[in-house]
Amino acid sequence: MVANSFPEGFLWGGAVAAHQLEGAWQSGGKGVSVADVMTAGAHGVPREITDGVLPGKNYPNHDGIDFYGHYKEDVALFAEMGFKCFRTSIAWTRIFPNGDETEPNEAGLKFYDDLFDECLEYGIEPVVTLAHFEMPWHLVEEYGGFGNRKVIDFYLNFATTCFKRYQDKVKYWMTFNEIDNQADFNNDFAVMTNSGLKLGDNNEAAMYQAAHYELVASALAVKEGKKINPDFMIGAMINYTPFYPATSDPADILLAQRINQRRFWFSDVHAWGEYPKEVEAYLERKGFRSDFTAEDQVVLKEGTVDYIGFSYYQSMTVSAKNGDADHLISPADAVVDNPYLETSDWGWSVDPIGLRYGLNELTDRYHLPLFIVENGLGAVDQVEEDGSIHDPYRVDYLRKHLEEVKKAVTLDGVDLMGYTPWGCIDVVSAGTGQMSKRYGFIYVDKDDEGKGTLARSRKDSFFWYQNVIKTNGAEL
Ligand code: BG6
Repeated sequence: MVANSFPEGFLWGGAVAAHQLEGAWQSGGKGVSVADVMTAGAHGVPREITDGVLPGKNYPNHDGIDFYGHYKEDVALFAEMGFKCFRTSIAWTRIFPNGDETEPNEAGLKFYDDLFDECLEYGIEPVVTLAHFEMPWHLVEEYGGFGNRKVIDFYLNFATTCFKRYQDKVKYWMTFNEIDNQADFNNDFAVMTNSGLKLGDNNEAAMYQAAHYELVASALAVKEGKKINPDFMIGAMINYTPFYPATSDPADILLAQRINQRRFWFSDVHAWGEYPKEVEAYLERKGFRSDFTAEDQVVLKEGTVDYIGFSYYQSMTVSAKNGDADHLISPADAVVDNPYLETSDWGWSVDPIGLRYGLNELTDRYHLPLFIVENGLGAVDQVEEDGSIHDPYRVDYLRKHLEEVKKAVTLDGVDLMGYTPWGCIDVVSAGTGQMSKRYGFIYVDKDDEGKGTLARSRKDSFFWYQNVIKTNGAEL
């Protein structure tokens, strides 16, 4: 039966990732992660991935917003907004500082015990991503990241350690954050944060092999997780960005379809336990992903996910003028402006209808429950003299998206578990390393140079979202 509003028990909340807010990069025995070797960039200035932590460089994730020291205050603010859930990640390097240890680091495990207990005290359900752009740097240096099959075992040890330790505190899990970003295989940030890969001679081949190992690792984690607690809900997590054809020219339509296929395959494998035909044929033609065993095939089938978690920020539009479906080098080369859409200050298109479209696409494709685990607008906020922060642009963005979500749920029959807008408290931007690209309902006094008191304050959007949750989305 189609619901007439958001279902009871709908998981309203907010989302963050450990490396973007915790700071305390060396506390409690934490090791160095890939996020710790990324410098601050800016809009149009990529972050540099340095060869280890180098003196004199600005690494904004080292201090984040010191959630490690402020989590009690921050969780109290989430509770004040009425959060039903809180999505964060477990920093792999707090649990296994180098990644290849056999025994976990107790101080790291204890931090998340305390954090989850704090959430549960307020009736806030933790929603946990296992790998959110923060693989141990040691695994990159010593093993070549997920380019090496051995890393599956290290990941599995990390995953099962977390499942066992938090089995009574955490029900909702995701195995890899935005695993499909690496479809952009010539982008150093994407392949490093997803797979711990450095750019080399054949980035496309390297990506397909590493992503295969990750999908096997994910399937093994699902299988082990279910043994530990059969009630676990373990999901995929993709960056859902629909690619639209620029015109009704069939060449544009075929190109858009091809680009979407080359992104969807990650969640296809997660959900179906097998590769889609087009990608399978392509891999065979190119001789990619040569290490695919009969056992992998079985594991993929046995470890399919329970739901599809996804982020949604924008859509993209492509034209075959810049590369046809059979000679696609990089999807980025085919992207053109969409004249129907406005863009954010960081050039991201704003497309609320694209979210309803996506909810329908994903439902038709997977027949699984969906969970919007990121959505939001990165914008510059102005603090007034009296300390207030007026952010109508953020409310406008979220409201328009939620209106479309509501239609998907009430008119289209989409089975949606929850909604956790990104960066519910201001955090370090993943893409640029900036603090000034803010998504939060809660402002944090810190600037791009790392200066500020770290004081937290409520933006206007805080009170708007509080009312959305209070009315279970009846008032947007
Ligand atoms: C997603 C990531 O890509 O988008 C987050 O899962 C990230 O980690 C978010 O922060 C927003 O991107 P950005 O680059 O504006 O921080």
